[in-house]
Amino acid sequence: MNLQDFKLERFFAKYEFTTEFLLCTSDCESMSLGDVLALEQGAQEQLERVWLGYTESTGSPALRREIAKIYTSIEPDEILVHAGAEEAIFLFMHAVFQPGDHAVVHTPCYQSLTETARSAGAQVSAWRAREENGWALDADDLQRMLRPETRAVIINTPHNPTGYLMDAETMREVQRITQERGIVLFCDEVYRELEHNPADRLAAACDGNPLAVSLGVLSKAYGLAGLRIGWVATHNRAIYQKMAALKDYTSICNSAPSELLAEIALRHREMLAQRNRELVLRNLTILDGFFARHAGLFFWPRPRAGSIAFPRLIGQDVEAFCDRLAREAGVLLAPGSLFGDAGNHFRVGFGRANLPLAVERLEKFLGGGWQVL
Ligand SMILES: Cc1ncc(COP(=O)(O)O)c(C=O)c1O
Repeated sequence: MNLQDFKLERFFAKYEFTTEFLLCTSDCESMSLGDVLALEQGAQEQLERVWLGYTESTGSPALRREIAKIYTSIEPDEILVHAGAEEAIFLFMHAVFQPGDHAVVHTPCYQSLTETARSAGAQVSAWRAREENGWALDADDLQRMLRPETRAVIINTPHNPTGYLMDAETMREVQRITQERGIVLFCDEVYRELEHNPADRLAAACDGNPLAVSLGVLSKAYGLAGLRIGWVATHNRAIYQKMAALKDYTSICNSAPSELLAEIALRHREMLAQRNRELVLRNLTILDGFFARHAGLFFWPRPRAGSIAFPRLIGQDVEAFCDRLAREAGVLLAPGSLFGDAGNHFRVGFGRANLPLAVERLEKFLGGGWQVL
């Protein structure tokens, strides 16, 4: 296996615990263990009784029952639980691709979606989202890219880093094109339920397509990244079995306390997602004001979903800008190169409660005339 460094994670390794304001994180505001236990009477006692032996490799039945409720057609035994979404991505790519296979990957992207496909032996074609189209994907581009050896198409909606939410018609086209050719559709849906208008929510890919695999996690909309609980949902038994067999070489099974906490949290997932959606909307209003005040310096494509967006810096080098902002003002923005973008964009995150203070600090930095040094 030949894996290149995960640039975003290396970037966070350098800055995450030394920079005061993380204005580029993709997860939403978290909560304490006590907050999760307070969601239900008796939860504290239940946690104390958790048996710390190995757990069922596919995920505890009670947790899989809760996860299955997110979907309309998925049974608990069609859910495979993982250590975060990250493990699921890794295992999916190694389950699907052999050397010589071809993958189409939504780009720019969260790097593991392309890098683990490549490391599993696939030749990767980038299905490019373009800023001038509101970061939309074009299904005609997909048609042109497919080859006889294309095994899977990898998409991410709502999207990291752009905040793009695919429209229902394009999703239907993608489902039709892939299904007709027997190609697996892998849909990273980790920001699902964070649509700014819930009416815009797409059906999960796995509900409309027997070959598709939907990816979910507790980290983003529900703000519980520290539980490290993610999953895939799929009717595709062949992929499910292969991923389950590969999991024997990675985590084997999940953390027993995390499984219980995840189960409790998911019983309240609508409330948790609503809380974070409200935070995201409040923060977006602050960003709208900020970008309007600095319209000459930034192009601001307002996203329709998720907790991140991908504005462009105008007339200055984005790498130098982000570096100086972190070192001199203690505010972290993530340059687009971390997502395979060369267009002078950066990722801004708005799922955290301290965003107003971070934006204030950013604005002070800009007021200091940083660009004329
Ligand atoms: C699109 C996407 N997929 C998967 C993940 C991985 O999620 P987790 O860190 O919870 O495993 C992330 C995390 O940022 C992401 O943005």
